[in-house]
Amino acid sequence: MKAHKFSRPAWLEVDLKALAYNCRNIKQKLGKNVELMAVVKADGYGIGAVECSKVFLKNGATSLGVAIVEEAIQLRKVGIKSPILIIYPEAVGREELVVKYKLDQVVCELKFAQNLSRIAKRNKNIANVFLKVDTGMGRYGFTPEETVEFAKRISKLPNLKIKGIMSHFSSAFMKDKTYSYEELSKFRKTLQLLNQAKIDIPIKSLANSSGVLDIPESYFNQARVGILLYGIYPSLENEPTIMVKPAASLKAKISFLKKVFSSTPISYMRTFHTNRESVIATVPMGYCDGYNFFLSNKGKALVHGKLVPLIGRICMDTLMLDVTDVPDAKIGDEVVFVGTQNGSEISVWDVGEWAGTMAYDIITRMGKRLPRIYKK
Ligand SMILES: Cc1ncc(COP(=O)(O)O)c(C=O)c1O
Repeated sequence: MKAHKFSRPAWLEVDLKALAYNCRNIKQKLGKNVELMAVVKADGYGIGAVECSKVFLKNGATSLGVAIVEEAIQLRKVGIKSPILIIYPEAVGREELVVKYKLDQVVCELKFAQNLSRIAKRNKNIANVFLKVDTGMGRYGFTPEETVEFAKRISKLPNLKIKGIMSHFSSAFMKDKTYSYEELSKFRKTLQLLNQAKIDIPIKSLANSSGVLDIPESYFNQARVGILLYGIYPSLENEPTIMVKPAASLKAKISFLKKVFSSTPISYMRTFHTNRESVIATVPMGYCDGYNFFLSNKGKALVHGKLVPLIGRICMDTLMLDVTDVPDAKIGDEVVFVGTQNGSEISVWDVGEWAGTMAYDIITRMGKRLPRIYKK
């Protein structure tokens, strides 16, 4: 949703320069021989797949990764011509769309590969596929040996090209990298076995954001990077070996203010009672706007650069802040839930910690119903 001049005063602000900066820095770390795939699934981690993709493709990324076929089609429809990989084999039954929109597709199943091959042949086209090795995630894909057997079978299919092979780290955001190195060695083993079987696959892709930050041995010739592009470190345990700037801020304006007595209950179920005469600000930001309900009585926001507590349960469309300690607060003042204000900052990780979750969960849902303002 784009912001309209009559929009409700709550919005997600996206700094396009920060996205470009992050992308350039990541690409610089990868070097010229490693291709950067920008992962823009979940609507660009919640901040706009189309806008983010355009910035990433101008600043060092050469391909895009999405989760579902509709996400890829949305990008094709705005004229994006770069390779787009559907990183999960979930387009089963929708192979026509994969071929029609010239998408690259992860395959883990013979029937799926056969369907892609058949449809591509009928359309005088080539279906580009990626194999997926399960190196330790326990999700999609096969063991190294099974991957090679699968590759042998599908490499005989007409109009189908095995363009890439990938795996996904399960724990590279943890400080202890022992398991990640085991995953890396399984990936290497698969490449060796493929080599012995004389199956040549151009793209080799393992590193995610954590891999890019902490495990240079995992670069091969493509990295698939998501959260870091948006300016967020995947975890607080990663080494910040690349400088990135947060690109998204969540903001609103105070829409109502009132003074209440001590012991006044606030919001549904009266889970909070004021313990002094207080000034309460009502703000148009609710859980339906992607501000996590678990932040009820735990979240904080910035008003005039000061951290103020969120009190009571978060409602669907509104929440209440105790602004007693911000004497100049008035209706129309800006409230920052994520971002900076007068030199103070609330990061996505802060919010994740208060809500008892992680940054990925916060960013991908943040501003769900809100207009987005893209700052150039
Ligand atoms: C298969 C795959 N590759 C790459 C990524 C990007 O990961 P990150 O956001 O940690 O860079 C994801 C994210 O979930 C993924 O599932």
